Amino acid sequence: MAVGIDKLSFFSPNQYIDLTELAKRRDTDPNKYLIGIGQSEQAVIPASQDVITMAANAADQLLTEADRSEISMIMFATESGIDNSKSGAVYLQTLLGINRYARTIELKQACYAGTYGLMQARDYVALNPGAKVLVVASDIARYGLATAGEVTQGGGAVAMLVTENPKVMTLERDSQFMSQDLMDFWRPVYATDALVDGHFSQDVYREFFKELWQRYREQTGRTIADFQAFAFHLPYTKQGLKALKDILPEANAEHAEHLLAEFEASRVFNKRIGNLYTGSLYLSLLSLLVNSATLKAGYRIGLFSYGSGAEGEFYSGLVQAEFKKGLINEQVERLLSERRKMTIEQYEKNYGQALNGPLDREIDFKDDPAKFVLAGLVNQQRQYINQQNHGAE
Ligand code: CAA
Repeated sequence: MAVGIDKLSFFSPNQYIDLTELAKRRDTDPNKYLIGIGQSEQAVIPASQDVITMAANAADQLLTEADRSEISMIMFATESGIDNSKSGAVYLQTLLGINRYARTIELKQACYAGTYGLMQARDYVALNPGAKVLVVASDIARYGLATAGEVTQGGGAVAMLVTENPKVMTLERDSQFMSQDLMDFWRPVYATDALVDGHFSQDVYREFFKELWQRYREQTGRTIADFQAFAFHLPYTKQGLKALKDILPEANAEHAEHLLAEFEASRVFNKRIGNLYTGSLYLSLLSLLVNSATLKAGYRIGLFSYGSGAEGEFYSGLVQAEFKKGLINEQVERLLSERRKMTIEQYEKNYGQALNGPLDREIDFKDDPAKFVLAGLVNQQRQYINQQNHGAE
């Protein structure tokens, strides 16, 4: 039975910074950020959004009333969760009006967890024909002001509905994966910003990709000629380009040119959002599916997922005939064109504003047009509001 992504959607908040302006402020040549890193804009997450509201805003767009009553599992992948005990998926169940007979679970392994969720969802649906599973990957990437990692921050959420006979892409049963205990990037429970050995992390990412690609070729007998496009986890878009270039010598000149053109399509959205950790690969997939001029039914896409610490997985998916119908991308174009540009001074001033600590407080959400917002903390409980119902009661 064919199982895979039936619908795919994305959310990121309504404000961003321009990385040319950030470069000037950091006394750096803008081309380092624009070309050397491959990022042009960066999403900035206001205090009125967290990983729960972003996930709810992403998923709400793709769910019909029937989906809400039929979903049997919600898998919430994040490495910037809001609670060390309660799963973010339980909040989503309420905010999204999903039936009470759904399993709810939160998954963590750095940026890799969304892929694990997707593979578990695939296996669950394969064993339970007709089942629907919601997988949401939501994160806020933070390294600190004026750090080397600052230019690779960002945030947002990607939601995927996994079903049989999916509209967007089937998930093939060809995954190759590996794990190794490494300290390339981590975040102790007391820290709000990630700790990272940046250059080491870049190298591990590429080594994992090369090893898994080699293993994939050996196990499946496929070669680069079997792939019409690749999508990568994009902590910043140059990282994926480097990985692709590591294997491009295996392709003939014409195919190499084609794969590079598809890579450009796959990074259009990521260049403007930045890293969203668990969701980055799937934002890149959405970007590819929306922006490619050549993709069509039956085309094979190779997907590389990487999570520091470290775990990697390479697998493929087959594009489906109706894939455009499963992409909830109208809101992506709108949210990118309607975002408010912050000055670097505003961004720096607001950097420490996120909701941390146990004290009751209210959050001003009047400038946040998203459906779901975080309104504050009462008795150490986050207060989430659906703005479309708010005031209507
Ligand atoms: N014009 C064009 N290019 C320029 C330039 C200029 N004026 N100046 C510099 N560059 C290029 C450099 O040559 C370099 O390119 P190459 O890597 O191709 O050689 C690139 O810009 C970056 O320069 P540096 O290596 O000097 O940059 P840096 O030391 O300031 O830090 C970084 C870069 C390590 C990525 C840092 O931003 C960082 O630590 N980021 C967070 C960690 C990260 O994203 N790691 C990725 C792999 S881990 C992962 O994938 C999991 C995850 O999501 C975190």
